[in-house]
Amino acid sequence: MRTKFVAGNWKMYKTPSEAESLAKDLKERFSKPGRADIVVCPPFTALDRVSRVLSGTQLRLGAQDMHWEDQGAFTGKVSHDMLKDIGVQYVIIGHSEQRTYFHETNETVCKKTRKALETGLVPIVCVGETLEQREANKTEAIVQSHIEGAFQGLAKDLALGAIVAYEPVWAIGTGKTATPAQAQEVHAFIRDLVKKLYDADFSQQLRILYGGSVKPGNAAELFGLPDVDGGLIGGASLKGEDFAGIVAAAN
Ligand code: PGA
Repeated sequence: MRTKFVAGNWKMYKTPSEAESLAKDLKERFSKPGRADIVVCPPFTALDRVSRVLSGTQLRLGAQDMHWEDQGAFTGKVSHDMLKDIGVQYVIIGHSEQRTYFHETNETVCKKTRKALETGLVPIVCVGETLEQREANKTEAIVQSHIEGAFQGLAKDLALGAIVAYEPVWAIGTGKTATPAQAQEVHAFIRDLVKKLYDADFSQQLRILYGGSVKPGNAAELFGLPDVDGGLIGGASLKGEDFAGIVAAAN
């Protein structure tokens, strides 16, 4: 049985003070233990403050990106050690906004994924097609290239530490959610693909999240699908009430 997983991606929202308030609100809401793993991913500048608030709670901390080198002259970048030192355990890798606006490629996704796994962070590897690609019937080809790119050269034992998030780009921040049938189809495709890349055991263990306009109102249906193991939540993770509603669906 795969434990359900819900992560909130706060993107470039919330100053450290605002993030601290939201973290305090979440701490209250999630004071009782639940079944799902819950992670919040604030901006870099808020990680330390949120970490202090969430310390000792069931909520875990994630970052939205990291560099693949240990350290060096890489202006503007953040390393795995910097994240772990302040209590970060998860890191989003290859989000479509990184791919679209900041030149993230399958190659850099692979380097970051490997470094995260080798240094004890859990990468949440994002994959997904644009609307044009879906309409051109390229969904499976794109998702396959994202998955094969991310896991390139990674041995099973290492790769087992990763989580995958399927996020159709056309559903991110648009209010347009994939239908349950569309989501399940791609999730099953990914599970089948990793079975070929690794084996049946890997495929059964891998958690595959859905992301793209998940809301309290549609979360239960999506999370109830056989191959959907939770969600990566953007907009609806910025309000405690909405995020709690989504986590309730996972619990
Ligand atoms: P959304 O974003 O929930 O606002 O669509 C999801 C994501 O980008 O991770």
